[in-house]
Order: sequence, then structure tokens, then C-alpha cells
Amino acid sequence: MSQIKNIAVLTSGGDSPGMNAGIRAVIRTGIYHGLTMYGVRRGYDGLVNNEIEAMDAKSVANIIQRGGTVLKTARSDEFRTYEGRQRAYENLKTFGIDALVVIGGDGTFTGASKFIEEFDIPIIGMPGTIDNDLAGTDFTIGYDTAINTVVDAVDKIRDTAESHDRVFVVEVMGRDSGLIALRSGISTGAEAVLIPELNVDYDAIMKRLDKSRSNKSSRIIIVAEGDKEGGLVVADKIKENFPHYDVRVSILGHIQRGGKPTCMDRVLASRLGVAAVEGLLEGRRGEMAGLICGQVEYTPFEKAIKHIKQVNTNLTRIVEILSL
Ligand code: F6P
Repeated sequence: MSQIKNIAVLTSGGDSPGMNAGIRAVIRTGIYHGLTMYGVRRGYDGLVNNEIEAMDAKSVANIIQRGGTVLKTARSDEFRTYEGRQRAYENLKTFGIDALVVIGGDGTFTGASKFIEEFDIPIIGMPGTIDNDLAGTDFTIGYDTAINTVVDAVDKIRDTAESHDRVFVVEVMGRDSGLIALRSGISTGAEAVLIPELNVDYDAIMKRLDKSRSNKSSRIIIVAEGDKEGGLVVADKIKENFPHYDVRVSILGHIQRGGKPTCMDRVLASRLGVAAVEGLLEGRRGEMAGLICGQVEYTPFEKAIKHIKQVNTNLTRIVEILSL
């Protein structure tokens, strides 16, 4: 029989579509198991500054389909200090909260690990980031929606690129990871994809661009934000090599973080929300609930953060083969 009676949930770091579905799942699973549930506003900042409120089943009604996070999110400087974490712990104790669910990415889990190390508080994480850059889960909450947003945008760019016989360099999000670029590149028929995990062979890309010219009038190069050079520099290099090409750059930016979550993200968030609360009740702590090959798995925070998901070279090869 678990000692846990009161659980709080927060979202932290960059928001991602599906976080609301995750909050809803956590709150309702807790209530289903007879617990008292709380929400913390503005991530760890809210923990430090006591922005904690009780939540019931009704307070999460009609949010499963909404992007963003109703609890709001932040990157907290105060929580990075010991004094900040101590205040956060005292606030939790004042409310009688004996466990936490945190939804976010690597920064969120780094903070959670430190908090557990210093204070006696069980925490389970849920992977919420559009970047998909965590180990211990095949997909993070928000990634599917983000790549579908990119696909939708690039399809539109393709229409105008085709009409004007242009080359478009499209920069997508992914500070340290090319996973958004890679999948969206394959599904939009991009002629090349540049990602931070791989060194760019500019000669090969220029040859590919030149070669594909006889088969198509528009060409799309997808560049991950974390690529060493970024979209503008890549466009300049193309212009240097082919001054006669009509080149444009489109930086998609934060539209990739918003919007209604896809069915995939809603189901993923719902499954992991149930797993997070039930994991705590089973006595788990310091782990992230993820989905691997369709099954819920728990991975220690340290392992989830030290991700470097191997880039699937089958996927980069597919871009090359199909770019003819
Ligand atoms: O959510 C992850 C991410 O989208 C990164 O790919 C990107 O670099 C970063 O967030 C930007 O976040 P912000 O604008 O909130 O600093």
C-alpha cells in the first residue's frame, strides 16, 4: 500500500503540443486512485514561488485538444540554486504534497534529479519536448504534432517553390537534434537534410542539387536549427556555387511548438500520464515513463538525458536515394 496521498504535476522548459493531454491524464489518474491532486503553475518557478493549486477532474475538462500548457511553463533560474530548491521543498510540504510528476525535456529532468538527490521527494517524469531528443522513449510528447506542422508548412513552400522554379532552404527546430529535420525531410521529399549529428558534405549536396535539376524545378533543403551553420549560411553557399539559382530561406520558428496535438501525441500523453502516477504508487522515483515498441518502460533520469539518440542512417540514406 503506497504512502503517497497527494501528487502535484508541472510542465517545464519549452512547451509542446500534448502537454495538456498529459496534465489531464495525471490529474484524472490520481483522482481515480483516490488521491488529492495539485497543479503547479510556471514549472519550477511556481514551485519556488508557491504557485500551487488543487485540481479536480473538472479543472482538466476540455483541454485534451489544446496546444500549449494550461499550467504554463518556464525555465527557472531560482530552482538552479540550492536555496530555491529548498523553498520549493518547503512549499510542497506546506501543501502536504508527497510526490511530483514533471513533464518536460532534459533540463526538466536534470532539475528533478538534483531535487531528489537533496530532498526526499519521489518524482516521475514524462517526456514533453518537440525535439524527440530523450532516450527511454521512441517518441516524446509533441514531436508528432511538430513534424506534421513542418510537413504542412513545407508542402505549402513547395507549391510556391515549384511555381517559381526556386530552391528553398527551410530551417526547422532542433537545438541539438536533427530528428525533426530528418522525418519531415523524408515526408516532404526534400532534396537534402542537414542535421547537427552528421558532418555536412557540401560537395555531395551541391552535386545532388545540380543533378536533380533535370528532374524537378523546385528543390527543398531542410536544415535543423542546431546545424553548425544554419539556414542562412547554407543558402549563401548554394548561391556561391550556383549564382543563377533563385534561392529563398524560410525559418519556420515557433509555429512548430504550437497547435492542436495529433492523435498520436494525445494517446502517448494519456498513456504516459497514467504510467507516471501508477509508477509513483508502485514506489518508483527518479525515472521517466516512456514508450518503447508500444510498451511503457521506465528509464532513470540520468539515462534519459544522456540521450544522443543514434541517428538512423537508414533514414539519411532514404533522403539521398529518393532525392534524384
Ligand atoms: O522545445 C525545444 C526547442 O524547440 C528547441 O528546438 C529550440 O531551440 C528551443 O526549444 C527554443 O526555445 P525557446 O524559444 O523557448 O528558448
